[in-house]
Amino acid sequence: MSADSIIIFDTTLRDGEQSPGCSMTTDEKLEVAQALVELGVDVIEAGFPIASPGDFEAVQSIARKFGSQTTVCGLARCRVEDVDRAADALKDAQNARLHVFLATSAIHREHKLKMGKDEIVARAVEMVERAVDRIPDVEFSPEDAARTELDFLCEVTEKAIDAGATTINIPDTVGYSTPSHFYNIIRHLKDNVPNIDRAVISTHCHNDLGLAVANSLAAVEAGARQIECTINGLGERAGNASLEEVVMAIRTRRDHYGVETGINSPKLFPTSRLVSRITGMTVQRNKAIVGQNAFAHEAGIHQHGVLQERSTYEIMRPEDVGYVGTNLVLGKHSGRHAFRDRIKELGYELDDDAFQTIFDEFIALADKKKDVYDSDIVALIDSQTGEFTEQFQLDRFHTLAGTDVLPTATLEMHNTVTDHVIRDAATGDGPVDAIFRALERGVGFEAVLEDYQVRSVSGGKDAQGEVMVRIKVGDDVYHGNGVNTDIVAASARAYLKALNRAAADRQRLSGNAGD
Ligand code: KIV
Ligand code: ZN
Repeated sequence: MSADSIIIFDTTLRDGEQSPGCSMTTDEKLEVAQALVELGVDVIEAGFPIASPGDFEAVQSIARKFGSQTTVCGLARCRVEDVDRAADALKDAQNARLHVFLATSAIHREHKLKMGKDEIVARAVEMVERAVDRIPDVEFSPEDAARTELDFLCEVTEKAIDAGATTINIPDTVGYSTPSHFYNIIRHLKDNVPNIDRAVISTHCHNDLGLAVANSLAAVEAGARQIECTINGLGERAGNASLEEVVMAIRTRRDHYGVETGINSPKLFPTSRLVSRITGMTVQRNKAIVGQNAFAHEAGIHQHGVLQERSTYEIMRPEDVGYVGTNLVLGKHSGRHAFRDRIKELGYELDDDAFQTIFDEFIALADKKKDVYDSDIVALIDSQTGEFTEQFQLDRFHTLAGTDVLPTATLEMHNTVTDHVIRDAATGDGPVDAIFRALERGVGFEAVLEDYQVRSVSGGKDAQGEVMVRIKVGDDVYHGNGVNTDIVAASARAYLKALNRAAADRQRLSGNAGD
């Protein structure tokens, strides 16, 4: 790694997954990991293997599948059972990293660990050594480093490096730091830890004060050469530093930072959408880099300026981040060939079956809607990809709503495993609630709706609505999304997708198709 390269360590699948409601199945994690590999991240932190059998399985699967294309990392507390479990999960990866952490701040020492400084140093050294015996690439994190006394931070760091750690990660665990404070911490380590040159200094900043990206970049200015970050800034509480923001800041202001990353930036937007679809966490419209409005110029004076010369109001080119806007796409008479080319230009590779499905949906949409935009096409593709065999399919439905009527939904659906046709009906608070209840009756189990969001994919009254739902069935959380010009249809699609995911789990556990 040359001095001017920054290692991008993605922790979407570990810290990001710790966001409330963001848990992912192993298949979903593999899908995200594939996207992260294509994005070009240097390290994927795939999970915390001791946390659950599911976490172990996910880290192991990602290690096996992607461990020759990138470095796959697993997290462990400084405990024998954690380190051994993480090493087991990682053992098949060609490039593996074991990340051990132990809190060092006075608050954590006294109230959480009830351990003295010497005990902490000894435990850290013992566990780094144990980790190195199994996986030579070891990262050590003094948790809550930003609130740790600087002399103690230096001592732990020096000992961890002597024990074999090759990356020292400095977490601002509670998002307390500020850019100049964080800069000074990194500078202090560089100036006072005698063996610091034997390790890469890393940052891991939380966003409680909205400063995670600024703090990470300040650390780079002070000499850090790895940034830990997540897609869309997911993570505990207010999240972690957002990958897309740090990457584009480094790229756009290369004149200032003088460093670079290996990120394939046109993949930023598609990766952000994938993570949003899988986790059900929508991206705010005005989010930097990957928000819907990130490249939309509303004010006439700005539009005029951009038309004359882009750089008047644009510091990055939309295509550099894979932004898909509201360019008018070909009309329905343009033909399959032109449509296939457009899909390629948008960065998608579809097999023949998937292409045919999307093309049919495009034609149907073009019949309903005056203008079809790139963002409509992307929404159609995103709602199809990541599909799994769905046990229940909705064939038709009807809802009734209005003032002075009882909102009602009737539907016909079928079980694709048994071919059983189901007809049912329900009432609700409104048409969406009624169709959700009718779908629950159809699949034969109830769910709790935890989150429901609808957004317009493009502009205009005839725009498609994209609905994202998060439901809970028992203790398990499932997501679903759907797009349609009719938001009741989009809602039904999203809800049934989530119910189908729950049904697949129930089927796996009980071993029958049910109806
Ligand atoms: O925020 C934190 O301190 C962490 C550590 C495990 C690195 O996530
Ligand atoms: Zn964290």
